[in-house]
Amino acid sequence: PVAAALAGRSDLAWRLSQALAVNSVIVVEGDSDSEPWVTDRIGASAGELLIDAIRDGDVIAVTGGTTVAALAKWAPVRSGLRDIQVVPARGTVGETVAYQANTIAAELAEKVGGRSVMLHIPDSLSQKALEQLLEDPYIQQRLPVIRSATVVVHGIGDALAMARRRHASESELALLAERAAMAEAFGHYFNACGDVVYAMQTIGLRLNDVERARVVMAVAGGASKAQAIAAVAQAYRIDVLVTDEGAARRLLQMK
Ligand code: G3H
Repeated sequence: PVAAALAGRSDLAWRLSQALAVNSVIVVEGDSDSEPWVTDRIGASAGELLIDAIRDGDVIAVTGGTTVAALAKWAPVRSGLRDIQVVPARGTVGETVAYQANTIAAELAEKVGGRSVMLHIPDSLSQKALEQLLEDPYIQQRLPVIRSATVVVHGIGDALAMARRRHASESELALLAERAAMAEAFGHYFNACGDVVYAMQTIGLRLNDVERARVVMAVAGGASKAQAIAAVAQAYRIDVLVTDEGAARRLLQMK
């Protein structure tokens, strides 16, 4: 039965890879919507893949969230790498410290013997605050490093669920609904066709930085994220997707 289950999941992964045009898809057992430990499985699988993909000199940008946090927690230690930097993709989401990109970057940096660069700014800024921060020497030093990421690891969220988690205002929520936002990743909101319909005003990685990265890894599970994963897969090249059976089955039903 174990072999049959494995074969079943690799068939799911293959079909998903074709359907989403993502080169490498891994499907772990379970559905993280109903079984929270499945997030740890996604993290452990993604952590191993990431550690193998890193090369000397890489700048690894990570987002926040529970799934990327699980990756940092379960990633194996790798020694012998040189000149690795791990950076938060953007400012903080304002959630639990353990799930903030700064914390995750620091933990992952330990695993790979690299150094982490912190970004202590809010994830949402007024235009005036943004302009002032862009003049700041601290930001001027860190921002180019973040935007030069060679490896990007990010979570994917349902657009409205993420907007609420980020304490979006009623007008922002209305705008996202009006523009049919489906997914959120690194502060960008996408519709079902993969178009950016809204981007949070903040400092950090932009979509064209992600497109330039050598490796883009997305980690997201749970049937409730199926539409969001499909939307993001339309938006830009994802090289590796680590997901779970719940999301994979729902995605294939949609296709
Ligand atoms: O952008 C999406 C979020 O980072 C996903 O967070 O992994 O906790 O669901 P999560």
